[in-house]
Amino acid sequence: MGSKTKWQEFFDGHAPNYLQNCFTKNTVAEVDFLIEALGLSLGASVLDVGCGTGRHAIELARRGYRVTGLDISAGMLEQAKKEAQAAGVQVLWRHDDATAFAVNERFDGVICLCEGAFGLLGQGDDAIGQPSAILRRVAAALGPAAKCLFTVLNGFAMARRHSSGDVAQSIFDPLSLTELSDCQPSAVGRDSGMRERGFVPTELTLLFQMAGLQVSNIWGGTAGNGGRRPVDLDEMEIMVLARKAAEPCAPPGSPKCE
Ligand SMILES: C[S@@+](CC[C@H](N)C(=O)[O-])C[C@H]1O[C@@H](n2cnc3c(N)ncnc32)[C@H](O)[C@@H]1O
Repeated sequence: MGSKTKWQEFFDGHAPNYLQNCFTKNTVAEVDFLIEALGLSLGASVLDVGCGTGRHAIELARRGYRVTGLDISAGMLEQAKKEAQAAGVQVLWRHDDATAFAVNERFDGVICLCEGAFGLLGQGDDAIGQPSAILRRVAAALGPAAKCLFTVLNGFAMARRHSSGDVAQSIFDPLSLTELSDCQPSAVGRDSGMRERGFVPTELTLLFQMAGLQVSNIWGGTAGNGGRRPVDLDEMEIMVLARKAAEPCAPPGSPKCE
């Protein structure tokens, strides 16, 4: 990996306080849900992309799954190691970039939750290229017909909470569905290039399909409140469940994608 990105710097600094965020408080229920949704049998292997301080990875390891946690922030991984040690579980931690990693193993399931890199854009990152690169890496890491579960920012909610004034001030860009992140290092007006990307279901289906992942379900998915229910226009996140396609899909409409 090259020089540190702004997101890396942010999460390195935020790591000791990350688990104080209210959206991290329902991990056990989230893990119940993802085990069932991914159809994981006991002892299955799981890759957690953008694992952060490892709350899902550690809970999965506690239940007997073989887990690899991957994150770009050394600070988050350091915290994850401490948490795993305190919980008395083994997780394989990897310091790597979700857009560029390669693994030898094929996993029974992949999770990428609470953004976990997906759509956390830095200066110069392409709004289509960044998530597409992650999806290609995830597809390559999945075993045949294995499933992945993502929670991503809801583009409907993002568009609905911004005004034309926000567009004029480049706080929200409707072309890329990105907004200036709240995690900017300091006050308004200082754009460090940290942007967060929203997604809508049709686009998600296409992006996943282009990477060789067949979307089976898109549900409401806001952290701690995921479930098999329709997306609410104003909720923070959308949840995507997909399966590795038999072979990479050709463009939409092609018979191969049926
Ligand atoms: C909001 S946290 C989510 C952490 C965890 N998945 C959870 O649900 O609590 C986003 C994580 O993505 C990581 N991240 C951001 N960009 C990344 C990248 N390009 N590659 C790997 N990890 C990345 C951050 O370091 C951070 O730990």
